[in-house]
Amino acid sequence: MKIGVDYYPEHWDEERWSEDAKLMREANISVIRLAEFAWSKLEPEEERYQFEWLDKALDTLHAEGIHAILGTPTAAPPAWLHERYPDILPADTHKYRLGFGTRLQRCLGNPIMRRYSRRITEAMARHFASHPAVIGWQTDNEFEANLCYCDSCAERFREWLKAKYGTLEELNRAWGTIFWSQEYSGWSQIPLPWHVRCGESHNPSLKLEYRRFASETTVDFQHEQVEIIRKICPHHFITHNFMGLHDSMDYYELGRDLDFISWDNYPGGSWMQADNSVDMTHAVMRGIKQSNFWVMEEQTHIIGWEKISRRPADGQSRMWAWQAVAHGADTVLFFRWRSCLYGTEQYWHGVLNHDGIPRRRYKEIQKFGEEMEKLSAILDGSTVRNEVAILNSYEQNWAFQLQPQTDGLDWWSQTRCYYNALKSLGIACDITPLTADITSYKLLILPAWYLLTREDAERIDAFATNGGVVVISPRTGVKNHVNVCHERPLPGYLGEIAGVEVDDYDPLGKAKYTVIADGKELSAFTWADALTPKGAETIAFWKHSQFEGEPAVTRNRRGNGLAWYFGTFGDDAFYDALLPKVLADAGISHGTPFPSGVDFSWRVKDDVRYLFLMNLNAEEVTISLPMPMTPALGPYPVDDRVTLKGYDVGVYRG
Ligand code: GLA
Ligand code: GLA
Repeated sequence: MKIGVDYYPEHWDEERWSEDAKLMREANISVIRLAEFAWSKLEPEEERYQFEWLDKALDTLHAEGIHAILGTPTAAPPAWLHERYPDILPADTHKYRLGFGTRLQRCLGNPIMRRYSRRITEAMARHFASHPAVIGWQTDNEFEANLCYCDSCAERFREWLKAKYGTLEELNRAWGTIFWSQEYSGWSQIPLPWHVRCGESHNPSLKLEYRRFASETTVDFQHEQVEIIRKICPHHFITHNFMGLHDSMDYYELGRDLDFISWDNYPGGSWMQADNSVDMTHAVMRGIKQSNFWVMEEQTHIIGWEKISRRPADGQSRMWAWQAVAHGADTVLFFRWRSCLYGTEQYWHGVLNHDGIPRRRYKEIQKFGEEMEKLSAILDGSTVRNEVAILNSYEQNWAFQLQPQTDGLDWWSQTRCYYNALKSLGIACDITPLTADITSYKLLILPAWYLLTREDAERIDAFATNGGVVVISPRTGVKNHVNVCHERPLPGYLGEIAGVEVDDYDPLGKAKYTVIADGKELSAFTWADALTPKGAETIAFWKHSQFEGEPAVTRNRRGNGLAWYFGTFGDDAFYDALLPKVLADAGISHGTPFPSGVDFSWRVKDDVRYLFLMNLNAEEVTISLPMPMTPALGPYPVDDRVTLKGYDVGVYRG
């Protein structure tokens, strides 16, 4: 386990580098990432490569024992490339070509962009293959789906469809283009989901296929770089910095080519504070390859571009870094070493302020580095693995983005309502794709498995039949994989497994219905299914609603396991009442609920379990440990209880 920083030697005078390297070493920093935006300095003119400055920077850092991850610089193509080939600029839905400036101004499917990406990757790989400081690579920076609407993307999309569907007859049939007279008699007639009359309401199959295509374009762009680096630098690892809950692309596909994934964690940004889902985001990231990960950029201090965030409290950055480790990070790099004097990110504060003098943040990072070093001996090789998994799918997510149907029916909200409910019961969970090895889980939760294939249903059935417990949610089994509705009763291919049929439904949006379970009134939101049991028993039923007295939640035996059907989404009280029954069915012992604002996670090594406790509150809290434990970090327990100060962390061995 290591700590590091994101470093931009090209932003500073060469004379400063050795001072930076010395300060880094003194703060226990042993790894840096660099060069991911330095294309104009690495190749100032076409095919005139200039690597000496980077050699020198790497030498200076390596002299202090620091290792480096090099970024391929393709997220910021230089001005000369755009001037010569304006076609590499991406187009928006109005086919308007975006201009040069900021970054990411490139179409990842454009053949010229591809050629230059391969060239700079190959030149760098050849030059740095044997530099002793270099240990690995980061592809590009924070990939997104290539949602470009240029004519060359339209051409490639048509080729992609041709390869997939073979004939126009098949495509017309699969998409139902007879609707509104959209049948195609030539491939060239197929549009991208360009801006059209009636808003953006294109054929839903075309829209979903375009999202797949745009995601695949990015995966393929990365693949070209990976192939080159693997060939020239087989001794280096390759990773990429993912963006947490960003969902424009299929992160499972992007992760496939990599040795491990990394991600960029900014918990103090207003976008994160809104839903406080940092721990869930770590779980999503860990699930990409079902293994530990790195944080390639960890928030250090005040952040923002034109407007900036509040200052993280003393100790909060250290706590966020430990929280990352708790949930599976093996290495944490802080963004960035020093606040830049110029450019868009002048106010994105680093470990050092603009003045370059080590102050409180430096000391906080230094302390975290010392602690990491101390704990490495026991934690190296430990992993996070839970008994419950929530299934995740980018395609389901896209389908809901394209047709949200009602307020609140979005993918992460559904995931979050289960995740938070389980956490509040003291149960940590994984978030994984259905293609992962799910056999070791006891409980599998499906938030709205909207696009359901027979193969998906078979996998889920096998899990239940072999003794697992499954929770199925509303809007499951509605459509096939090309976004066309199934002709069978809901929940489609999972109906037999759930032992239930959805007879009718009410998209509630912001309205509220009531459900009765064990004589208790519970609140139900977002969606209401009226259920007809076909073998399942009724656990809860509707009250004060259009479905008065009809089943709302059911439970069905399936082989050695069970399938629950939740015909709605609820609030905390709803899940507090129902999830303990599900957990009991799955043979999962009830965890110890922790106080509000206390995040927790377990890392396991050689059957030894380490409980991480993070106090996200500003105030101190007293926490009951689930068993007698000894601290690896943090205060000693008294009567199996520990008191953590605001933003403090404890690691306990069980
Ligand atoms: C209008 C149109 C119909 C249909 C409905 C529902 O009435 O004439 O074709 O589109 O709206 O949108
Ligand atoms: C992202 C990028 C970095 C930087 C930070 C701060 O995570 O990867 O290059 O821009 O955001 O904005």
